[in-house]
Amino acid sequence: MSSSSSNPGTNQSWGGRFSEPTDAFVERFTASVDFDQRLALQDIQGSVAHATMLARVGVLTDTERDAIIAGLDEIRGEIQRGEFQWSVQLEDVHMNIEARLTEKIGITGKKLHTGRSRNDQVATDIRLFLRDEIDVVEAELKRLREGLIALAEREADTIMPGFTHLQTAQPVTFGHHLLAWQEMLARDHERLLDCRKRVNVMPLGAAALAGTTYPIDRHVTAELLGFERPAENSLDAVSDRDFAIEFASFASILLMHLSRMSEELVLWTSAQFDFIDLPDRFCTGSSIMPQKKNPDVPELVRGKTGRVYGHLMGLLTLMKSQPLAYNKDNQEDKEPLFDTLDTVRDCLKAFADMVPAIEARKASMYEAARRGFSTATDLADYLVRRGVAFRDAHEIVGQSVAFGLREGKDLSEMTLDELHQFSNVIEADVFDVLTLEGSVAARNHIGGTAPDQVRAAAQRARDALAALEQHS
Ligand code: ARG
Repeated sequence: MSSSSSNPGTNQSWGGRFSEPTDAFVERFTASVDFDQRLALQDIQGSVAHATMLARVGVLTDTERDAIIAGLDEIRGEIQRGEFQWSVQLEDVHMNIEARLTEKIGITGKKLHTGRSRNDQVATDIRLFLRDEIDVVEAELKRLREGLIALAEREADTIMPGFTHLQTAQPVTFGHHLLAWQEMLARDHERLLDCRKRVNVMPLGAAALAGTTYPIDRHVTAELLGFERPAENSLDAVSDRDFAIEFASFASILLMHLSRMSEELVLWTSAQFDFIDLPDRFCTGSSIMPQKKNPDVPELVRGKTGRVYGHLMGLLTLMKSQPLAYNKDNQEDKEPLFDTLDTVRDCLKAFADMVPAIEARKASMYEAARRGFSTATDLADYLVRRGVAFRDAHEIVGQSVAFGLREGKDLSEMTLDELHQFSNVIEADVFDVLTLEGSVAARNHIGGTAPDQVRAAAQRARDALAALEQHS
């Protein structure tokens, strides 16, 4: 209890107008310190900038500013060493740190909150925190993209079946498939950087909702904190959380992509596909079936997608129908945002570590492409080049496939005589297009699966990645 409280047991920061202490359950129910203490370092960073600005405009003396900054530095050390005593009675991270500052430096500590409110303070803290975390997420995303590009180059000539409807369709190169994943992530990367721009705007100075009567200079604070600019409107600044929704939306799309990749990795490691091998360190065994090697990492990433979608829905619903300006509802923004960040970072790390270690089982991929009549379209295109109408060509190839199914033969394994049963325009050069190598090499244009195109696309992807603005 502090001397400024009018009644015993009321909160020392705002207890002045209260005549009885907060109900013990309500105190616990409304407190956020258990989770918002994660914002502690950003809270101190914001306070140091605020005090610096207040001294610059003459609201604090230089001596007061120095005492505040020195006190905050000590508190930062206490927090980093795990010595700081967090108190639920002090409700949140902001009041815990401010109370400790006053405990340390006395009355000057109480001047820190001049021209500020917890409303602009918390909005600033979350943005600083998210900006730092975005840079960590971005570094992992970049590492994953680099890994995919390198693997695609290594596997530019590796042939596998391409699928539609999960049925063998046409042969593709494994490198081409990997670069399809890379493209998805390139768009996610753009979304992340775009989101960062809107995160990097400073609420501080909005105070509770209307601004403040002190002669503050918001450009000074913004510059000290590395923000692009001060937020334009004080009411919006304290209430807006759509930057967090945007991040959750980026995260949901990214996890959707990672879960698609996961699904393919899981399928491919199965004995039925046998397309790839994942090193043992990314897999676990079964407690009952000794032969099992389970692709837990991709399975878990696929599973974690659900909680991130949930957080996006949670945040959207949290903001829905909130009147301007700040409402206590907003305290509920932190846990979903923190969990989204943790999940995204971990999933990206798992993938960035795992992708370079993927081993293609080339013979098995090749055999699967050969077995599935994957060059049937190539035969149809061959017939068209010899004057057959496409619809007729389609019918002729259909009959050839039916024959192959009866005889257990791929198109490339049939003799010229056998193929002549279906069309007499076919000649010996047909075997150039019926091979898997001929089929992929023929798709030789930008965006096509030909090995040379894959190598060129990988180089372009590498250049595009290098050209991105670096924050981390
Ligand atoms: N713990 C609060 C939050 O997370 C801080 C702002 C509270 N402001 C207030 N006037 N109650 O949103």
